[in-house]
Amino acid sequence: MAVMPLKRLLGGFVQRTVASSQHAAANRGMGTGGALARRFCSSSATGKASKIPHLPKKGRLLTGATLGLVIAGGAYVSTVDEATFCGWLFDATKLVNPFFALLDPEASHRLAVSAAARGWVPREKRHDAPVLELEVWGRKFSNPVGLAAGFDKNAEAVEGLLALGFGFIEVGSVTPVPQEGNPKPRIFRLRQEGAIINRCGFNSEGIVAVAKRLGAQHGKRKLAETSSTAPPTNDDVKQGGKAGPGILGVNLGKNKESEDAASDYVQGVHTLSQYADYLVINVSSPNTPGLRTLQGRKQLKDLVKKIQAARDEMQWGEEGPPPLLVKIAPDLSKEDLEDIAAVAVALRLDGLIISNTTIQRPDAVMNDPLAKETGGLSGKPLFDLSNSILKEMYILTRGKIPLIGCGGISSGEDAYKKIRAGATLVQLYTAFAYGGPALIPQIKSELAGCLERDGFKSVIEAVGADHR
Ligand SMILES: Cc1cc2nc3c(=O)[nH]c(=O)nc-3n(C[C@H](O)[C@H](O)[C@H](O)COP(=O)(O)O)c2cc1C
Repeated sequence: MAVMPLKRLLGGFVQRTVASSQHAAANRGMGTGGALARRFCSSSATGKASKIPHLPKKGRLLTGATLGLVIAGGAYVSTVDEATFCGWLFDATKLVNPFFALLDPEASHRLAVSAAARGWVPREKRHDAPVLELEVWGRKFSNPVGLAAGFDKNAEAVEGLLALGFGFIEVGSVTPVPQEGNPKPRIFRLRQEGAIINRCGFNSEGIVAVAKRLGAQHGKRKLAETSSTAPPTNDDVKQGGKAGPGILGVNLGKNKESEDAASDYVQGVHTLSQYADYLVINVSSPNTPGLRTLQGRKQLKDLVKKIQAARDEMQWGEEGPPPLLVKIAPDLSKEDLEDIAAVAVALRLDGLIISNTTIQRPDAVMNDPLAKETGGLSGKPLFDLSNSILKEMYILTRGKIPLIGCGGISSGEDAYKKIRAGATLVQLYTAFAYGGPALIPQIKSELAGCLERDGFKSVIEAVGADHR
């Protein structure tokens, strides 16, 4: 968003108006107020023909009042620092939330993605609090709050979403071949409960379309980093790599009709890993039949081995291949969790995302008629369930594997609870869908407050604090 241009415009307008009225006043030996009055009222007193049409008294008052307001507003805005102005812009986005709420959930989501893709969202200019900075997998995160998969399924709005101030964003899930997903309606808002049920079923434009988009966006991201204003050349676009600012995860899915899941994920790795700061194997969506069985001990072990081999066979520069993570469901038994932890430790998995949506319907949603819709439940009612799985997994992996806590985060305190339970990074989707951009700075500042309140000097210090 053009914060400074707007400020300059308003500031410039005020300066020009004041300067010209002072000039006129000086010429006529009058004060600024008198000069303004002369300008906007009849000049019949001078005996010359007026260039401005004669307005009735009411019109003159209205014009004067409007002009006064514009001048006063412009003068005030021009004295405000960039951080305050940025805060206003983020707060102002709350005004459009009721409008989005009126639209059908999928139409509202489409509109939000398109707006972010066009840069019609505020751009975070304020620095994150130093207490929020951390390094994971040798990559610097300016804060641990990320956007979960499913919001930008086709990597349409990477730049706009990162500009909102997320520490990282995850695109996808992306399937090898484009597919429509389940018939609409397939997203349901349980507004009262701060929840969503979805049965999207991996609607995806496919890995080729997403690779093209990330290739082009990467060119831009790279140029932005070297602060060049030159348009991207063909070389820039084709080059690939992970040089852009902001951390980008790519979440891989499988096609509904595919019999060979491993081959689907491997295709995703071959085509998309060059653009990813980290890769995710999603074996936990409840909306693709049979997918969740891939979380079984043997199935997961075979799958991860094949995907790691495919990734490691590719040519990588100094930075090495992107870390590989697995995203798991919250609907797993103790034995399932033990199996996943054993595989993760044995195969040196780089991380786990805990969790995806649940097929359970906690008491909190039972009174909502939409609770009977088939699909995965996300948002506030998922918080406790996903947190208990997170805690369990932190213990089972003895804190050795970075965990991303996801499920029901809607405040800085929620994010803090996930970190204390064992998460190094956190992600959200549903609360962002309801709260919009203003929620991001709010969560970050609340989280920084929680860390400082309890005497932690960094996020890393607080990870797993509940287990000590
Ligand atoms: C409409 C919708 C679509 C989603 N699509 C995906 C997806 O494609 N891949 C994935 O791994 N998770 C997907 N998710 C799950 C989220 O990434 C996240 O794990 C889950 O919503 C819990 O977080 P939350 O409570 O903050 O929303 C989707 C969630 C929603 C609400």
